[in-house]
Amino acid sequence: MNPINTLIVRTLPLVPRPLVRLVASRYVAGETLDDAIRAVRHLNSEGCMATLDVLGEDVTNLSETDETVSEYLEALEAILAHGLDSNLSVKLTAYGLKLDPARCRQQFRRVLDAARERGVFVRIDMEDSSVTEETIRIFEESRRQTGGVGLVLQAYLRRSRADVARLAPLSPNVRVCKGIYVEPAEIAFQGHEEIRDNFMAILEDLFDAGSYVGIATHDDVLVERALAAIGKRGLPRDAYEFQMLLGVAVHLRHRLVSEGHRLRVYVPFGRSWHAYSLRRLKENPSIAGQIVKGFLRRG
Ligand code: FDA
Repeated sequence: MNPINTLIVRTLPLVPRPLVRLVASRYVAGETLDDAIRAVRHLNSEGCMATLDVLGEDVTNLSETDETVSEYLEALEAILAHGLDSNLSVKLTAYGLKLDPARCRQQFRRVLDAARERGVFVRIDMEDSSVTEETIRIFEESRRQTGGVGLVLQAYLRRSRADVARLAPLSPNVRVCKGIYVEPAEIAFQGHEEIRDNFMAILEDLFDAGSYVGIATHDDVLVERALAAIGKRGLPRDAYEFQMLLGVAVHLRHRLVSEGHRLRVYVPFGRSWHAYSLRRLKENPSIAGQIVKGFLRRG
């Protein structure tokens, strides 16, 4: 690990909350649903779609999952009430996946059913490798029962191309991303180039299978490679979308929108912003470095 990033990660818990908040404010819409609505409105006015993520994951008590469900149902109502161009992204560990997979299925189903009735799409984020298989199973079960649900596949996982083949009969709607958790070499590619190559291989497999794909990256090399793959196939604009995180690669985002590509921004919000920010930074110290660099640039 880069020593500067190590230092940043070690000192994170000592950083005063207001300072973390200042750094995080670019990447998190705020604490409340109103903050998120404002952020989505602004993105929509710029021609971007959004996906709302109520922060919180890895609940330690099943009773917390009722809160997760309520918060998502409120977000759903807000999307409709304010006419927002947004869908939902969920993390199954916030619905109790690591505590009680059966209860997680029930709780997630409440949100999925409500979203489907209202015509709002729900994307299941992919978390660390301890829950990959169970997450894919829940996606498969949900997809067999209903439309309006999608999954994420991580390009760093060696298994992901096999997962594309496994899911092909379901015509899945898949977001492809590099993957943010730290995973061992036995199951995950470690090099930048091999992750990029696998990202493209997954993307092309999905394009060729006729899947709708969310191309989730800020890596300009990958964006160019994805555009070339789209051009080679003559794919229509409604066969794919680019996806980016709030506050990241804003210039690239504007460029893609101005060229007429569909682009969705991931908008995290909620009371758990502090824990979320620290956890993300600890899980992937290179992002800590990027964020501090971004912060210094901004200063
Ligand atoms: P890379 O890491 O090479 O970054 C390219 C450039 O983008 C960097 O040089 C930097 O400038 C900038 N950048 C990237 N991330 C940044 C950040 N957080 N802050 C500041 N600058 C940043 N992962 C996962 O495991 N499961 C999931 O469900 C999702 N979901 C998801 C949704 C969406 C919409 C996006 C865009 C990403 C995810 N991810 C994710 C995260 C993803 O796996 C990956 O970690 C990040 O997108 C960074 O990878 P890039 O492809 O952007 O390349």
